[in-house]
Amino acid sequence: MGGWLVRGLVCAAGAAVFAAAGGVVVPTAAAAGVTVTLTCFASPGFADSCRASAAAWEKRTGNTVRLHYQPEDTTTVLQIDHALLEAGSPDVDVFQVDVIWPGILARHFVDLRPYVSDDEIAAHFPQIIANNTVDGRLVAMPWYTDAGLLYFRKDLLESYGRRPPDTWAELAQTAEAIVDGERKRGNRTLSGFLWQGRAYEGLTCNALEWIDSFGGGAIVEADGTVSVDNPRAVAALETAAGWLGRITPRAVLFYGENESRDAFRAGDAVFLRNWPFAWAQLNAPDSPVAGRVGVTALPRGGNSGKRTGTLGGWQLAVSRHSRNVEAAVDLVRFMTGREEQKRRAVHWSYSPTIADLYRDAEVLAANPFLADLHATLVDAVARPSRRTGARYGEVSAAFWTAVHATLSGTGTAAANLADLGGALRRMEKSGW
Ligand code: GLC
Repeated sequence: MGGWLVRGLVCAAGAAVFAAAGGVVVPTAAAAGVTVTLTCFASPGFADSCRASAAAWEKRTGNTVRLHYQPEDTTTVLQIDHALLEAGSPDVDVFQVDVIWPGILARHFVDLRPYVSDDEIAAHFPQIIANNTVDGRLVAMPWYTDAGLLYFRKDLLESYGRRPPDTWAELAQTAEAIVDGERKRGNRTLSGFLWQGRAYEGLTCNALEWIDSFGGGAIVEADGTVSVDNPRAVAALETAAGWLGRITPRAVLFYGENESRDAFRAGDAVFLRNWPFAWAQLNAPDSPVAGRVGVTALPRGGNSGKRTGTLGGWQLAVSRHSRNVEAAVDLVRFMTGREEQKRRAVHWSYSPTIADLYRDAEVLAANPFLADLHATLVDAVARPSRRTGARYGEVSAAFWTAVHATLSGTGTAAANLADLGGALRRMEKSGW
């Protein structure tokens, strides 16, 4: 297992010289001159953001950060990280941790509570701190938060006299009207609505939004009861299945966040479901749709439904198997602190987990939607990962499998959700 990564060379003498010459490098409690390895998604914007924070910490401490790049797919990365941690590998010191992972990986992470002050903790949204606390141990510090949002082409909606949709039905009508109109004008590639339909965690997020928007619960409720096989959830899945081939191309059944964003960015869709960080990517100077994109909360499931988004987001945790715990903790505190969260929000639209950054002028200037959609981010619907703990991976995989089958036309929504309900109740009996 030690061969998975080649550790960077540590140049303690060089660091000492740097510290003395620069006069600004403040050695922390951690020894200077060590190399800390951090996992980071390999996609361009994400990797840039990791490099920027890492460079700032290196300059401050005289330590070195080695980035361990991973594919931007939480399902794949969970498998890789789980294997690495189970093997007791010291190769990665700091892990990026999805909001749904603390219950699965907690025992491999250091309790950060003794290292962070009450004030540092109090700065973050309390529900994320609670999410990251397992059996009284704070196993990860919040890094950025996510909630599903609806992106739309402002220019197209304006030219067809449409407003951003309030319900899914209105979204479908608007998408159809605009795509029909554009087809008549010779545009063959425009589609109505893109989202994440591949069989993976992203589909769990999308489908939970549909179900919650219809008032159909959260798969497994906070008291542990399985709720997924209910008529509102069935109506929600039937609605989504009805989009395929109509306003959504069937290819979406193979799309994740990046594929759907890239097609929308190329100008090929009216609506897109994605996370807040897509904002910076869609409005980057080289984006064909820059300046023509609006963003709002996802629509309601009918007049009695609600606008909702699934809670996502990432944390940073220190491996129990790290040989540089002190330096690794220092990197986590630095990267999850105010300055780095602000940098990441201003340049890459990662939504802060520090409440007062939502009142920061520069953060709001770069992400104007954060003011209007604050409630969407804060009240997002959580996946049942806290309740189902270490078994969440199984629960989610069973859920996205049933949803994917329904969307692909294998079985009805009612039959697939009834089977899923039975399977989840059997799991519940043996204990979450
Ligand atoms: C985003 C979210 C994460 C979620 C994932 C699904 O990365 O932040 O919580 O699990 O998307 O693809």
